[in-house]
Amino acid sequence: MRIFSGIQPTGEIHIGNYIGAIKQWIKLQNENECIYCIVDLHAITSDYSPEELKESIINTAIVYLAAGIDPERASVFVQSEVKEHTELCWYLNTVTSIGELERMTQYKEKSKAKKKRANAGLLNYPILQAADILLYDTELVPVGEDQKQHIELSRDIAKKFNKHFGKTFKIPKAKLPEKGARIMSLKNPKNKMSKSGKKGNAISLFDDPKTIEEKIKSAVTDTDNKICYDPKNKPAISNLLVIYSEFKNQTVKESEKELEGVSYKIFKEKLTEVLVESLAPFRKKRKELEKRREVYVEEILSRGAKRANALASSKIVEVRRKMGLIN
Ligand code: TYM
Repeated sequence: MRIFSGIQPTGEIHIGNYIGAIKQWIKLQNENECIYCIVDLHAITSDYSPEELKESIINTAIVYLAAGIDPERASVFVQSEVKEHTELCWYLNTVTSIGELERMTQYKEKSKAKKKRANAGLLNYPILQAADILLYDTELVPVGEDQKQHIELSRDIAKKFNKHFGKTFKIPKAKLPEKGARIMSLKNPKNKMSKSGKKGNAISLFDDPKTIEEKIKSAVTDTDNKICYDPKNKPAISNLLVIYSEFKNQTVKESEKELEGVSYKIFKEKLTEVLVESLAPFRKKRKELEKRREVYVEEILSRGAKRANALASSKIVEVRRKMGLIN
């Protein structure tokens, strides 16, 4: 199967991104044709510093590789290096209604924060995402829960295009992890863990042991002292339990059983230990990759872009032909 997914090169990638997306990517790369993109064109719809963007792009590539993406199995590339993404985005603009875009939760949240200063890119953002996906005849898109609505819109856009211009695009499906599709903030389990959230809300993939310990120590818990999965009544402990289970590679049920009768304090110590142990290899691999930043990492990105470009350039010819544009 053809798989496509991406992460924005903004802020520090956290364990929510890992559990929601990257962990799935790693599993899928063994048996599928995977394309993992660094979506820099999406990142520029929010405030950013041009001087820091290049650095963030390479850092994101390093995260992919350090966390376990194998460049021999999956293509890793930077979105803006394959021009067809923006070209297809324009074409898809013409089959997408403004109303559909205005209904997107992410747009509503981001534009509300910006008030009247929201840029048009923020509104059109999901069309670019649809272009990313449809350009490669993607079948499966492994993402966290917050992206589900965007994938549904991509499906609608593909269907509309196919109806209008004849069968051109595959209809992609979102793939969410069973548990952990929405990891919550350690500071407030009503909010999603996020790169831009309150300090200490997220654990970065490269946090050192001391930082992990402090963040887990100060993570909020629920009132009683029982460890069980009950997101409605015990949202904080349920969230920590999902994180624990995901890093121990066991089911939540198995964790509940293991932690029966254990106090919150001991649970937090165990969780810290699991996180420190699981993230140590990522930190080690990053150190090695940092030294090979200019040659090895950039070479992987350039190889990935070549591969993506080969697929994208033939697809765009088909799209142009279907739309009656001169090739
Ligand atoms: P981004 O960069 O915000 O997030 C990257 C991935 O991490 C997932 N994620 C989470 N999963 C679980 N719990 C959380 N708290 C959490 N926070 C983030 C996201 O669901 C996502 O899978 N628009 C996308 C990037 C994108 C894309 C694409 C994805 C652009 N084009 C094409 C798939 C296919 C985004 O902003 O993700």
